[in-house]
Amino acid sequence: MKIIICEDERELDIKAAEEFANHIRRKPDSVLGLATGSTPIGMYKQLVDMHKNEGLDFSRVITFNLDEYVGIPHDHPCSYHAYMDENLFNHVNISRENINIPNGLAESLEEECTNYEEKIKSVGGIDIQVLGIGRNAHIGFNEPGTPFHSITSVVELTPSTREANSRFFDSIDEVPTHAISMGIKTIMQAKKIILLAKGADKADAMYKALYGPITPDVPASVLQLHPNVTVFVDKEAAAKFPTKE
Ligand code: GLP
Repeated sequence: MKIIICEDERELDIKAAEEFANHIRRKPDSVLGLATGSTPIGMYKQLVDMHKNEGLDFSRVITFNLDEYVGIPHDHPCSYHAYMDENLFNHVNISRENINIPNGLAESLEEECTNYEEKIKSVGGIDIQVLGIGRNAHIGFNEPGTPFHSITSVVELTPSTREANSRFFDSIDEVPTHAISMGIKTIMQAKKIILLAKGADKADAMYKALYGPITPDVPASVLQLHPNVTVFVDKEAAAKFPTKE
């Protein structure tokens, strides 16, 4: 695992975007695994700038998002469909048919999950997956206790995750109780993973994820078992890491 501690958010955004962009340049038809939340917004902004200023080409990439809420329309401002349009897709030359986000309004959510998992396989798997981390160390919407062999499924959000995400909604009652999320196994099958973490409220989760025991109680700790992970973390989120003598 490569750990890159950045001075501030801006440095993190630039370095993470560079890593992602290099991948797209090397393999223009890359399969990208994308994350939402406030953490990757700056990285997406850098990628949009690279597209506009340097011609970074998204025309052949295929994307799969980690997760989506169940039961809110795609044009709801808090849906991850709307988030992705606003922060990336509307500003780059991606082909709409190459975008995949779980459909939380599907008639059969179970079928939606099976099809999503199959579709990832059918394009050869995810080349590079970006992840944020929840305060309880969740990845995607895989909450503590999720088995490491889980695949894409409907998951129930913990009260703490609903509370954390209520900042985007008008009130906590509006935060959906369920989501569709890629599973831990789905995430671990990505060929490369980049994990981003910013801010003091992630310090505990990041310490446990990287240096604690590998356990389903700390979903992100599974990443210690992945052969190709790069972590981009700011000083605040790295505050509990052991210091080198
Ligand atoms: C959500 C998302 C996760 C994300 C996490 C952290 O629950 N499903 O993919 O990593 O929140 O979000 P933030 O970056 O806003 O702290």
